[in-house]
Amino acid sequence: MAEDFDPARLSSDKRARYAELAQEIASVLDGEGDRVARMATVSSMLHHAFDAYFWTGFYVVDPAKGDELMVGPYQGTLGCLRIAFGRGVCGTAAKEQRTVIVEDVEAFPGHIPCDSRSKSEIVTPVFDGAGKLIAVFDVDSDQPSAFDEVDAQGIEAILNATFA
Ligand code: SME
Repeated sequence: MAEDFDPARLSSDKRARYAELAQEIASVLDGEGDRVARMATVSSMLHHAFDAYFWTGFYVVDPAKGDELMVGPYQGTLGCLRIAFGRGVCGTAAKEQRTVIVEDVEAFPGHIPCDSRSKSEIVTPVFDGAGKLIAVFDVDSDQPSAFDEVDAQGIEAILNATFA
């Protein structure tokens, strides 16, 4: 049950922490098929498990447009509502369908500053079971260079297990 989730019990090692979170998230979502409920739960559990996570959430592909993202379930300060494919870090990850790690957002051309406290960012594409892009998962940190390959692998594994 979600009430039992205590991030303080997770490992301090980052790789182990993602693996434990994957299990916790699968357990909480067992039997829940709704995509919004699943996105909201992933956002909350990851956000509260890492001090480095400052803004955590989904931008979903607008089915009416196909090439535009709109804000979905998230944790954090106010996020911008819509991002065109190809714009900013989120739009780049959506267009190129790959995880993008940005160590310094100021140095990323076209970065969209939703909150000036954001210093680094990781955005990962989210695919459904048919391999179709349905969203991107965006994490901003108020710490510089907060994300690396361990975060990418940990986040990708959780998204794959939850939405594909
Ligand atoms: N910084 C992102 C926009 C989304 S917010 O930070 C919540 C980007 O450049 O795509």
